[in-house]
Amino acid sequence: MLRKPLLAAGHSPVIRRVIERVPPTRNLVARFVAGERQSQAIPVVATITRDRLVTMDYLGEEVRSPERAEATALEYIRLLEALADAELADRVEVSVKLSALGHFLEADGEKVALENARRVCRAASNAGTTITVDMEDHTTTDSTLAIVGQLRQDFPWVGAVLQAALRRTEADCRDLAHAGSRVRLCKGAYDEPASVAFRSRREVDRSYVRCLRVLMEGAGEPLVATHDPRLLMVADRLATRNGRTSDGFEYQMLYGIRDAEQRRLAAEGNRVRVYVPYGVDWYGYAMRRVAERPADLALLLRSLAGQS
Ligand code: FDA
Repeated sequence: MLRKPLLAAGHSPVIRRVIERVPPTRNLVARFVAGERQSQAIPVVATITRDRLVTMDYLGEEVRSPERAEATALEYIRLLEALADAELADRVEVSVKLSALGHFLEADGEKVALENARRVCRAASNAGTTITVDMEDHTTTDSTLAIVGQLRQDFPWVGAVLQAALRRTEADCRDLAHAGSRVRLCKGAYDEPASVAFRSRREVDRSYVRCLRVLMEGAGEPLVATHDPRLLMVADRLATRNGRTSDGFEYQMLYGIRDAEQRRLAAEGNRVRVYVPYGVDWYGYAMRRVAERPADLALLLRSLAGQS
C-alpha cells in the first residue's frame, strides 16, 4: 500500500535532503550503495570478489542533457579501465541504464543512447569483461530490447533484463532464450499499470516461475535476479531438471540484501553475482529498495516524522 507514495518520494528533493541529514536514514542508504565515488566503490567490490562475482552500476537515470549522458559514458569507460588496472575485470562486469546514457533526450535520444552504450561495450571488451543493460519502466521495453539487439550484433555477450511483472515477458523470454543469450530475470522495480503488468505479488511470482521455466529450458544463460527464498528454490530445481551445472546459470542479488544467503549459495559452488551501485545520484535507487521492505520503510517514516 505504501509502495506507490514511496516510489513517488523517489523524485522529491525535500525528502532527499532529510535523508541526507538524519543518521539512521543515511545509514540505510549506505547499506545499499557502495559510496559516491569510484575510489570508494572499487575496494568494496574487491572484497566481494573473494567469493562472488559483481556487476557495478554507476547510479543515475533519466538524464535530460547530452552533456550528462556523455559524462555517464565517460564514467563507465574510466570505471572499466580502473577495473582492468586493478585486475578485477575477470570477476566484475557493469550494468548500464539507457536513460543515463541519453535515451530520454528530446533530440535523437535512442541514437545517442545506442552510441554511448557502444562506447561502453568497446571499453568492456578492451577490459575483458561484459555489460548488462538494465530494464526501466514499461514505456522503454521495446526500445531497450531493440538497442540490446543492435549492441549484440558486435558484442554478443551483452546481457538483457526482463521483468516478470510485465504481461509480455513470457513471450520476450521465448524470443531471448537462444544460445549465447544472457538474460537477467527480475520481478520488476517500477509501479506499472494493470493494463501491462501483474499487480499482485502472487501473480508476479507465478509469472516469474513461468518465465524462468522458459529460460532454463532454452539454450541461453539465465541470470536469476531475486532474493525471494521460494523462487531461489524453484530456480535450483529447474536448473537440476534441465541438466544445468553451475556454469549454466547465475544467481544475482543486490548489494546489502541477503548477504549471508549470497555467501551460502557461493560456498555451495553456485555462481553468484552481486549488483553493486555507487554514485552521487543514489536517491531514486535507494527509495526503490526501501519501498521493498516494510522494516526499512518504518524506519524511514519515523525519521521523516521526527524532522517535521
Ligand atoms: P521481493 O521484493 O518479493 O523480496 C523477496 C524477499 O527478499 C523478501 O521477503 C526479503 O526476505 C528479501 N528482500 C527483498 N528486498 C529486501 C530489502 N530491501 N532488504 C532486505 N531484504 C529484502 N528491476 C528492474 O526493474 N530492472 C532491472 O534492471 C533490475 N535489475 C536488478 C538486478 C539484480 C541483480 C536484482 C537482484 C534486482 C534487480 N531489479 C531490477 C530489482 C527487482 O526487479 C526487484 O525490485 C528486487 O529484486 C526485489 O524483488 P525480489 O525478487 O527480491 O522479491
